[in-house]
Amino acid sequence: MSSDYIHLNLFTMNSVEHVTTGNWRTPGDQSHRYTDVEYWLDVARTAERGGFDAVFFADVRGIYDVFGGDSDTAIENAVQTPANDPQALVPAMATVTDNLGFAVTRSTTYVHPYQLARELSTLDHVTDGRVAFNIVTSYLESAARNLGLDERMDRQTRYDRADEFMDVCHRLWEESWEDDAVVRDRESGVYTDPEKVSDIDFEGEYFSVPDAHSCEPSPQRTPVLYQAGSSDRGRDFAANNAEAVFVSQPTEEGVRDYVADLRERAEARGRDPDELRFFPGIVPVVGETEDVAREKYETYAENVDYEATLALLAGFTDIDFSELDPDQKVEHIETDAIQGAVNAFTQNDPDRDWTVGEVAEFAGLGSTSPVVVGSPEQVADELQYWYEEVGVDGFNVKEVVRPGTLRDFVDMVVPELRERGLVRDEYEGETLRENLFEEEGRTRLAADHPAWN
Ligand SMILES: Cc1cc2nc3c(=O)[nH]c(=O)nc-3n(C[C@H](O)[C@H](O)[C@H](O)COP(=O)(O)O)c2cc1C
Repeated sequence: MSSDYIHLNLFTMNSVEHVTTGNWRTPGDQSHRYTDVEYWLDVARTAERGGFDAVFFADVRGIYDVFGGDSDTAIENAVQTPANDPQALVPAMATVTDNLGFAVTRSTTYVHPYQLARELSTLDHVTDGRVAFNIVTSYLESAARNLGLDERMDRQTRYDRADEFMDVCHRLWEESWEDDAVVRDRESGVYTDPEKVSDIDFEGEYFSVPDAHSCEPSPQRTPVLYQAGSSDRGRDFAANNAEAVFVSQPTEEGVRDYVADLRERAEARGRDPDELRFFPGIVPVVGETEDVAREKYETYAENVDYEATLALLAGFTDIDFSELDPDQKVEHIETDAIQGAVNAFTQNDPDRDWTVGEVAEFAGLGSTSPVVVGSPEQVADELQYWYEEVGVDGFNVKEVVRPGTLRDFVDMVVPELRERGLVRDEYEGETLRENLFEEEGRTRLAADHPAWN
């Protein structure tokens, strides 16, 4: 770890079920209120009360139509469908908070960088610099089909395009407008000095963007860059771009290896390896006592839906689980979907053979992340261990019931962690980057970031 304390993101989605299944049925669950902005305002207030860095919105394009084109399983069980656009929630959530950040997932495969750069500059303006861009390349065939492609691009092409995409964004965000371009001089009648606004003259294989950015510089200029590449190619992309990395490994060994590997790749690119922040996912199930927590866990585990979980996982991995017997071992494949999701159950722990049934049971509560069950002290112990011994910077808190998982965590675990000096009492700055790097005034992308080269 390179942070002075544990950083927290709420990992959520503008939908009913994200990386759990079946728990929309759990009494008290309010995930159906994802269409109600009041629900999200409450989430924002709670996360800020808990000192979270950000609410991190996952997002997908397409429907999980994964068993030979069957989308009914996903639709019936609310597997990331229905899902609304997360970006629209951010201005409202920013209005009721002062320091909380907002990470929005956007796909480099289905958006144009000139358009996306403008959208994120706008969000960075209206939030006073509290926005992050979770860069993804998208993995569902149905996204490709509905967004103008005959088939999904292969991984290599998706990441090549993403490299160029980020190059365009960097020039628009960082190089097009000088800091003092806007003069707002009433006497001379000059609002912006055209000499200080430059065309970027970008001509690449995928994009041609000749002109200047149409937004004036926002507080962070480049939003904080989040990424979660898990394949070899994806890890290179993360090392080139990410300031915060989402780790998706179910075992301690897997997390250690991933963090060490990414730090090495970053260093090889001239970056200070300690400047990357690592966030594994965790699913906290906490109760006033261990017994209460165990009872909650039993209910949640019972509500997991086998078919829905396999539909979710089939989307992540391209493995058609409907063809497989629950007792069958999951075999390793190379996939153009999310390689890390396959590796999690086939490679990360060489001593363990996962069967389809075991995978479905495990992944129904948080996909590839460990579930931590216990009293506030026990959960805090576990997080402290991961932070101090495994070397992560914080956690993506994944929800089982909404907003119950977040509330339990903020009301029970955060006070315990604060008592140990492990979660902030106050934010360092106003922008997300200042808070993520614990440094007031650090609003801009680091000088050793490869984007500058
Ligand atoms: C923890 C984690 C979270 C992710 N969240 C999203 C997401 O919200 N939306 C999305 O389209 N892809 C998401 N992805 C997919 C990746 O960002 C990436 O595009 C995909 O995994 C393919 O590359 P890879 O095989 O290198 O990981 C996520 C992956 C991981 C590991």
